[in-house]
Amino acid sequence: MTDYPAWYYNDIQQVGTDFEDMTQVATYDRNQTSSSVEEEQQLVTQLGISAGQTVIDFGCGTGTFAIQAAIAGAHVYAIDVSHSMLTFARQKAQLANVSSRIEFHHGGFLTYEHVAPVEVIVTQAALHHLPDFWKMVAFLRMANMLKQNGIFYLWDTVFSFHPAEYQTRIDAWIQGVAKPPGKGWTAQDFATHVREEYTTFGWILERMLTDAGFTIETANYLTPEYAEYICRRG
Ligand SMILES: C[S@@+](CC[C@H](N)C(=O)[O-])C[C@H]1O[C@@H](n2cnc3c(N)ncnc32)[C@H](O)[C@@H]1O
Repeated sequence: MTDYPAWYYNDIQQVGTDFEDMTQVATYDRNQTSSSVEEEQQLVTQLGISAGQTVIDFGCGTGTFAIQAAIAGAHVYAIDVSHSMLTFARQKAQLANVSSRIEFHHGGFLTYEHVAPVEVIVTQAALHHLPDFWKMVAFLRMANMLKQNGIFYLWDTVFSFHPAEYQTRIDAWIQGVAKPPGKGWTAQDFATHVREEYTTFGWILERMLTDAGFTIETANYLTPEYAEYICRRG
């Protein structure tokens, strides 16, 4: 962090769930059902990702999306702050025979530098690791990495319930999605998420996205706790 001012956020640190922990990495694909091969294939098609395009995946995790984008012929930059995730994702890419089309980089939303603008940036289930002010900085940085009219896709935990309902909504969410130990994310995992990570409200994110210079083409509030946005750089 020597090139950054003293006030700059250290986004290389793990916040909340520790994705440097090999146990978390080894069980991730079982736990995160939203990132299945089928879901990521569908997203690649939905975003029109094809041969000749360049894509950045921020917070790539175990690399499922990056691999599907590479299978579609794109050149992918897969970025993550976790060395363990990157090692695991590299092995998956080798098995899928797409290593030559994916460049894995250790870095974060606030530190990764990309020179030539790209057609598509995707980030899923990762941005909530940053506090809101730094999410805004991340949006500005990502907008600068995109070509004009380039696509920015964001999927994350996003709250769209009325703020006054927070207690009942959070309890009901955890009760509805938590799995028994060994079967998926547990109630304890979701409690850690709410307590230590930075899921925010959709109305805040929408304002941030437009202030960063994006046009929001789709804001899809999938449930009161998850949303996806398809944006274009103006
Ligand atoms: C819940 S996983 C999501 C992985 C993948 N995108 C998916 O949808 O399955 C969150 C990932 O974001 C990474 N991450 C956390 N903070 C980050 C940051 N500031 N910049 C980039 N990646 C970060 C974690 O190391 C982890 O691999």
